[in-house]
Amino acid sequence: MSWWQEAVIYQIYPRSFYDSNGDGVGDLQGIIDKLDYLNGKPDSLGIDAIWLSPINPSPMFDFGYDISDYEGIDSVFGDMKTFKLLLKEAHKRKIRIILDLVINHTSHLHPWFIESRSSKDNKKRDWYIWKDPVNGKEPNKWLGSFGGKAWEFDEKTGQYYYHAFLKEQPDLNWRNPEVRKAVFKMIKFWLDLGVDGFRLDVVNYYIKDEQLRNNPVNIFKGVRPYDWQYHIYDRNRPETHEIIKGFRKLLNSYKDRMSVGEVFQEPPGTAELPAAYYGEKNDELHMAFNFSFLYSKWNAGSFMKSVLESEKFHPGTHWPNYTLSNHDQPRHYYRYRRRDESVQRAKIAAMLLLTLRGTPFLYYGEEIGMTCERIPKDKIQDPVGKKYWPFHPGRDGARLPMSWNNGEKAGFTTGEPWLPLVFNHKEVNVQNQAGDASSLFEFYRKLIALRKKTKSLRLGDFQSLESEPKQIMAYTRTLGKEKILILLNFENKPAIFPLQIGKTGKQSEILFSTHGRKIVPFESPEIQLEPYEGIIAKIG
Ligand code: GLC
Repeated sequence: MSWWQEAVIYQIYPRSFYDSNGDGVGDLQGIIDKLDYLNGKPDSLGIDAIWLSPINPSPMFDFGYDISDYEGIDSVFGDMKTFKLLLKEAHKRKIRIILDLVINHTSHLHPWFIESRSSKDNKKRDWYIWKDPVNGKEPNKWLGSFGGKAWEFDEKTGQYYYHAFLKEQPDLNWRNPEVRKAVFKMIKFWLDLGVDGFRLDVVNYYIKDEQLRNNPVNIFKGVRPYDWQYHIYDRNRPETHEIIKGFRKLLNSYKDRMSVGEVFQEPPGTAELPAAYYGEKNDELHMAFNFSFLYSKWNAGSFMKSVLESEKFHPGTHWPNYTLSNHDQPRHYYRYRRRDESVQRAKIAAMLLLTLRGTPFLYYGEEIGMTCERIPKDKIQDPVGKKYWPFHPGRDGARLPMSWNNGEKAGFTTGEPWLPLVFNHKEVNVQNQAGDASSLFEFYRKLIALRKKTKSLRLGDFQSLESEPKQIMAYTRTLGKEKILILLNFENKPAIFPLQIGKTGKQSEILFSTHGRKIVPFESPEIQLEPYEGIIAKIG
């Protein structure tokens, strides 16, 4: 097994984690300062790897997802020296570092694009996707994910360039071998520095249809006109897989490096599409994000459906993964909030995430139950929020500063935080929860520790005990002779579950429980669970 299969991975949105210099924006030194919180001390959270959202120089039209220099560090985050120190200090604590690789597009201020834009015969012209107008208009009807057309007219040279996101994010032309060469050289640069892996941003966007065919119209209408098309020609083109194979070969020439791709798709985000990016011979990405939980309703049946689907598409050596929250979607604490039951729900969700077969990805702050709030209009930073206000809250709500303590600025900064502290940071913060046995933070910490010391929880086979549950999710994880039973009650009312798991009762041992339960009554034919009760028990 490889390290990333056994790891718990923690996503940090660097602007919002910890600000070490008082400019209101989180930075690399801030992450170094908080490494002990993450791992290496007896009271650390215990995660094994950090995925950092982009830290390269960027004009920040999309907060780092628009890179203008692939081999540098943006000064708002620090410098290369600090990055190397972060690598060293993280590795010392057995934390690996995964970087965000944003190579579908660059910033419009990247020197490659500046050159490409300068004239039609510039040698980098073909590094981006330039097309002549058709009947005086855009070459086709493709739209930008962040609104408007996907084509921007360039007065100077009389052609359009393609951008899947903002016009400040021109797409690279991945059909051009020189682009591949330049990007792979840059990837090598980071591998040589010792980074442990990459998260590949919108990896399913790299190649677009050569004939620029229009997408069929979609009857499902989301908020964005972008959702009114089936994206079969501007995403998931078959030629993409060749590029990923080349990338994987490069990774394989180094020891112990991993990759996880963002395969963007609309809700419900099933596991089928991302699974295709592992490659038919497991020779593409190590993993591609399974986003089904991001869209799952709060009920046992919906989560079980996602898990069974993921199991189906990841048999044998295919390795699943799960994630409840990230920087692009409202946090799950917020999505699943309900009166005074939100913390109990967050605990059940954590128990699920950390007992499944597959790598769990946590998002900073979920371990303390950070929520989302709407940002006042004049404080909105996210381009999506700005464009679609008030119909779309944007992504700022999920990117609020980490809540460290109950000080005025949540212990995040001494300056003016880049996003306002519009949430309940005085109640919900690390200081209030660390050491409090009943807190969500301690709950995560103990679960992660349990996963770490229980091999079957990390590597065991998954077996559901009821494939269409109404209220209780029940499943086992088995490795050799070790068998673990997991029971999760998703509702605020008691429920009975039949114990159809054979006569293993005498050996049963509770490993973890939300309600301090001491025994599972295997001698009786059923068990009654309390409202929102979760149990992890060894049954063999
Ligand atoms: C991905 C990122 C998102 C970014 C977009 C464009 O979806 O997760 O944050 O805006 O790509 O790079």
